Amino acid sequence: MSDGTLSTRQVAAPVDPIFGIVDAYRADQRPHKMNLAAGVYMDETGLTPIPASIREAERRILAASTSKLYAPISGEGAYLDAVRNLLFRQPGDVWGATHPAVADGRVTLLHTPGGTGAMRLAVDLVARLRPGAEVWVGEPTWPNHFQIVDAARVNLRRFAWLTTNQQAFDESGLLAALDAAKAGDAFIFHGTCHNPTGIDPTATQWQQIAERVEQRGLIPIIDTAYQGLGDGLIADTASLRAFLATGVELLVASSASKNFSLYNERVGALAIVGATGAATSILASHARQIVRTMWSNPPVHGGAIVATILGDTQLRTQWEEELEAMRLRILASRHELTAALAAAGAQGFARLLEGRGMFSLLGLTDAQLARLRDEHAIYLVAQGRINMAGLSPAKVPVVAQAVAQVLAGGDR
Ligand SMILES: Cc1ncc(COP(=O)(O)O)c(C=O)c1O
Repeated sequence: MSDGTLSTRQVAAPVDPIFGIVDAYRADQRPHKMNLAAGVYMDETGLTPIPASIREAERRILAASTSKLYAPISGEGAYLDAVRNLLFRQPGDVWGATHPAVADGRVTLLHTPGGTGAMRLAVDLVARLRPGAEVWVGEPTWPNHFQIVDAARVNLRRFAWLTTNQQAFDESGLLAALDAAKAGDAFIFHGTCHNPTGIDPTATQWQQIAERVEQRGLIPIIDTAYQGLGDGLIADTASLRAFLATGVELLVASSASKNFSLYNERVGALAIVGATGAATSILASHARQIVRTMWSNPPVHGGAIVATILGDTQLRTQWEEELEAMRLRILASRHELTAALAAAGAQGFARLLEGRGMFSLLGLTDAQLARLRDEHAIYLVAQGRINMAGLSPAKVPVVAQAVAQVLAGGDR
């Protein structure tokens, strides 16, 4: 090591577990290549179009905008109101955040750059306000959770999300982890559509988990990146309502990347729910100070799109229909793939039908994934995470045959 140089590390940082694969896919020249790795919605032609509701909202924003002034540190009020409604709407509500936690002034939000920004802010808040707290993550998970906890310089604890046969949610394992944690530790939960397994707890299980979290004095961080792509917009926040019912303080990281197709606009939010209105204000002040040193204030355009859509009944209805169409297409692909795998002679995939959202794990080894890539130009993530949204009726039989072939270990 010498002075005056940054090059003190001899080893490069690892390639990102998801973006690295997408880069390899992009570099692949084979015309029949398939990207089932990226966590993005694709239509049947493999494209990720801009929905009509987004285009219309952008047209209105461009026509009305007069300035590029900074937003407040926590973001523009119209966007925050819109996300509050989306997250805290209850069954039976047409629109509006009717949850008592909102009425009690216990909920505040900040606009963050994507769900990633919200997760980072959440873990940074835990680090700042609960020194010594550890953050617990169920494995497998979205790999960025590990990096975010590391970046916040918080100690990471791991537990198994799935039972040893990798087929079901390991509720007793999670409850044991909750019992092993110390008061003030935080647990990251996927609010809906668990990434990468697609396996979520049932409503009853969420209640049990929430009650144990409350009894043990733990802090839930609910990562909700797929609201509306599981069972529907309100159904997909049932996990959040289970925690709210216990009165615990909690953090919700939400993302508009997938459900609004606003990936590159970097639109997300952190919702902070404190024990009281006064506690919430204090928490929010710390969040704002953290933000000031990271992105200072959020990028405005994507938030304005969400606020415009959700603030207009007609546009909101149109967006909800577009989102529902995405959800149903993903679900149809899940069914088609399951049937095609069975038809191709690959055993044990009926369980895929229990999964929700974009992803499931096919349970493939690195060697099998390499064969899929090298011999079939099919790109998946570790353990065979497949994005159902990347499939189409034409691609399904090709993928099923290829998976059956690598599982059988046979040569081409
Ligand atoms: C579980 C989970 N959390 C958070 C995110 C963050 O998404 P973004 O930062 O793109 O909004 C993702 C995106 O893939 C995700 O899968």
